Amino acid sequence: MRNKVTIIGAGNVGATAAHWAASRRLGDIVLLDVVEGVPQGKALDLLQAGPVDGFSGRITGSNDYADSAGSDVVIITAGLARKPGMSRDDLLAKNVAIVKTCAENAAKHSPNAVLIVVTNPIDAMVYTAFKVSGFPKNRVVGMAGVLDSARYRTFLAEALGVAPRDVNAMVMGIHGDNMLPLVRLANVAGIPVTDLLDQDKLDAIVTRTQHGGAEIVNHLKTGSAFYTPGLAAVEMAEAILTDSKRVLPCAAYVEGEFGFSGCFLGVPVVLGSGGVERIVEFALTDEEKKALAESEVAVRKQMAATGL
Ligand code: NAI
Ligand code: 2OP
Repeated sequence: MRNKVTIIGAGNVGATAAHWAASRRLGDIVLLDVVEGVPQGKALDLLQAGPVDGFSGRITGSNDYADSAGSDVVIITAGLARKPGMSRDDLLAKNVAIVKTCAENAAKHSPNAVLIVVTNPIDAMVYTAFKVSGFPKNRVVGMAGVLDSARYRTFLAEALGVAPRDVNAMVMGIHGDNMLPLVRLANVAGIPVTDLLDQDKLDAIVTRTQHGGAEIVNHLKTGSAFYTPGLAAVEMAEAILTDSKRVLPCAAYVEGEFGFSGCFLGVPVVLGSGGVERIVEFALTDEEKKALAESEVAVRKQMAATGL
């Protein structure tokens, strides 16, 4: 039997995730949105790529959670973007309401699914989905670290003139200005980047990574990134569906790991059929610990604003 993946929110990120999921043969895909016609039209268009691309999964667009029943993975991308005159807190309140509905319905119709939350502010939204779904901590995870790390790896690869896939580098912490691109552990095929690039260049790459989302918004003006965010969510879904035990940075619920408890924080995790099977803990320097603690403060502020 094929796996079933539901993607809630058929906007830029959701539709792009559906595209990547189909081309990576993840299984049957349900694209769900509140707007009538949009998920149906996008799903039908994508389905018709099957004969050319070669995938055989069913792709369905819907406004009804009944069609999502029995999903193995549910990716939540539904939400509003910030509009002129709307504060971050206004946006947070609106997206909490949306993610609540999505997580409640996902839990009702797909009680065994793993939830991958993408909606921003991600560190608060994944907490919202965790609280509302009643799912155990291993089956609720947020996407940000895969995206932020991909940006970091891209910038390092550009600076070094090497293939991006040979750059191993990770971003931990919050999805925001306080994120922590780890420089000490970044390497190219095992060679530390600190041996290959000078400090000024590394500092510039770290800063660019921390503002990677805003850089794209500044170009697009009316929206935010979606190609790599869609793929990052699919990368996580694939690791879960294939039980591949990939080690990926994700927003996971910490209970003592790295010295933090009771919140979602970007940390390296093992992703397999059990969802977040474990958090991979390792020794941080004092400076890295301090940066992660700053992320935690920012995450807790967002969590408090959810009112949950
Ligand atoms: P978009 O505006 O293109 O799509 C959002 C979709 O959600 C729309 O189609 C809308 O109709 C739908 N929607 C709204 N309320 C809904 C509900 N109650 N149920 C089902 N669908 C609903 O936005 P885009 O670009 O796709 O971004 C989606 C979210 O992902 C935003 O919150 C964005 O900030 C976030 N994001 C997060 C990233 C991350 O790293 N975690 C990266 C990129 C985007
Ligand atoms: C990004 O980093 C907007 O969170 C989104 O591109």
